[in-house]
Amino acid sequence: MRRLLRKRPALGMALLSGTATAVGIAISLAIDWFPDAASTASKDIDNLWDVLLIASVPVFVLVMSVALYSVFAWKVKPGDTSDGAPIHGHTKLEVVWVTIPFVMVTALALYGWVVLDDIEAKEKDPLIVNVTAQQFAWSFEYPALDKVKSNQLVLPKDRRVELRVKTKDVIHSFWVPEFRLKTDTVPGLTTKVRVTPNRLGRYDVVCAELCGIGHATMRQAVRVVPPGEFQGWVSERKQRAGDGGVAAAGGDTAVAGKTLFADTGCTACHTLADAGSEASAGPPLDDLTKDAAKFGKREGQSAEEYVKTAIEQPEAFVVPGFTKGTMPDNYKKNLSSAEISTLVKYLSDVSGKETK
Ligand code: CUA
Repeated sequence: MRRLLRKRPALGMALLSGTATAVGIAISLAIDWFPDAASTASKDIDNLWDVLLIASVPVFVLVMSVALYSVFAWKVKPGDTSDGAPIHGHTKLEVVWVTIPFVMVTALALYGWVVLDDIEAKEKDPLIVNVTAQQFAWSFEYPALDKVKSNQLVLPKDRRVELRVKTKDVIHSFWVPEFRLKTDTVPGLTTKVRVTPNRLGRYDVVCAELCGIGHATMRQAVRVVPPGEFQGWVSERKQRAGDGGVAAAGGDTAVAGKTLFADTGCTACHTLADAGSEASAGPPLDDLTKDAAKFGKREGQSAEEYVKTAIEQPEAFVVPGFTKGTMPDNYKKNLSSAEISTLVKYLSDVSGKETK
């Protein structure tokens, strides 16, 4: 190889670059870059990515080969401090190195545009979901389905969905990697994104924009379910909003409270022995009666009133050692009053038990 490079440098370089390109493309395509594909857009986006890799590897290899070759072939001799020969440019070469990148970039841009146009296409009668972001939680509302509200994004499989994304405070970014979907939430604007989930499963909606101290915990469930199950979920949500989930728990308020505590996402931040949660972003709730005695009495509140206030207006008392604004203040909006009563009763009861 070394002899070939010395005798016929152009041929040698071409052989080396060709091999490097083939190996580079093979490695880059063999890497599994993406999580599961769960929407109709996933395939198009993954293909686009592969095409970009195939187009980028030869460019990278070409640039690096020329650079490395030049460094070694025209290395200055020790002691040589003279100037290089004056070069006046090379019109043909310049035309080539402007035209090829121009054609490549234009073609890739057009391809990207066609894919984007395709995956964002409007379709008749989409399921509209209003998404609200705030420090540090997502909430979802289905305006056409009796304004059902949820802390989980539940979607029927194979139905076009239009997400209307808003923020109550700062910029967040709505990201469901399996849908290959990401959009910023911008104060004062409603951003729309469309998606057709085509794979059943449980995924995560993740916040992809640093938005404050709780950014890393701003992650909630997305569930893609069969259309029949979706209808069932909607009716169940409506019923739960009406009775706080008591009927679904067979009339047992403690079970209803425990379920609601987990479903609402409280377990992600609070330790509570009865619910088996050990998170520490928020105050441990096994001490709730102590906190209620300390902070609630100051305001002349009973333990239950204290708990209710702590859920509905988390800014009202912040337990020392915890940061104001970590707990979202959207539970009053997202839970029905019956659900809040269930939670308050549950928390007052189990916390009482722990400290007795
Ligand atoms: Cu919201 Cu990061």
